Amino acid sequence: MVQAKAPFGVDAPGRASVGKRTLRTDRWWYQPNATAVLLTIWVAYATVRVFWRQYYFAAEYDYLSPFTSPCVSASCAPGSSSLGVWFGTFPVFLPYAIITLVFLLGFRTTCYYYRKAYYRAFARTPSACAVPEPHKRYHGETRFPLIIQNAHRYFFYVAVLISLVNTYDVIHSLFHGIGLGTLIMAANVVLLWAYTLGCHACRHAIGGQLRHFSKHPLRYKMWKGVSKLTNKHMQFTGTTLGTLMFTDWYVWMLSAKVFADPFYIHF
Ligand code: FES
Repeated sequence: MVQAKAPFGVDAPGRASVGKRTLRTDRWWYQPNATAVLLTIWVAYATVRVFWRQYYFAAEYDYLSPFTSPCVSASCAPGSSSLGVWFGTFPVFLPYAIITLVFLLGFRTTCYYYRKAYYRAFARTPSACAVPEPHKRYHGETRFPLIIQNAHRYFFYVAVLISLVNTYDVIHSLFHGIGLGTLIMAANVVLLWAYTLGCHACRHAIGGQLRHFSKHPLRYKMWKGVSKLTNKHMQFTGTTLGTLMFTDWYVWMLSAKVFADPFYIHF
């Protein structure tokens, strides 16, 4: 005989029965809806830009868009492959920075704060406190595909390497000269480091599994520093989306010659 499953969520045995969807009267829906709109705009912009494969390198200033870094295929624009040419010509459907984009996407989508944001905004699991979710079942992150979220710590290690590549891009452009674009790229890189090092996986790698901080003074100091970034991690998740987009847009404008860097000193 097949046993009927116990009702889940607000219908579970012992839960008070509430006749309305929620008793909340504030604008609880505003934040998840605003998040959904902003994330959709960002994803649409980033998708167009990585598949467009144009206006990602301002050769005059040696500015490379973070969406196309590193550019290491034979299809890349002349001068944009400062790390060398590792691959032959890419087919038209492949973004130039595919080797980093896969990991960056993995790192961001498995980040605890992005998870919270898109679970609330898109999956409505739940949209807000005291607002029941519409789903009939809930398995958390214990099954495929959401069990992949547990790979976050591994994506973190690759994200550190990618941040090093972004840092290299700024330093490399400095051999060419300095301008407003250099400052924009540098600010983006500083914030990317703040976001990456504030990751909970980083905090655990530095200060986790220690019995006594007193026996590891250096790790304790580093853990305290990283903890400050972790406290601001949520702010960095949003800020870095903005700076990534703005840096790419700035390189796009210069590359398409819509305007020139307002102050630039060639070395
Ligand atoms: S990057 Fe957000 S928790 Fe790791």
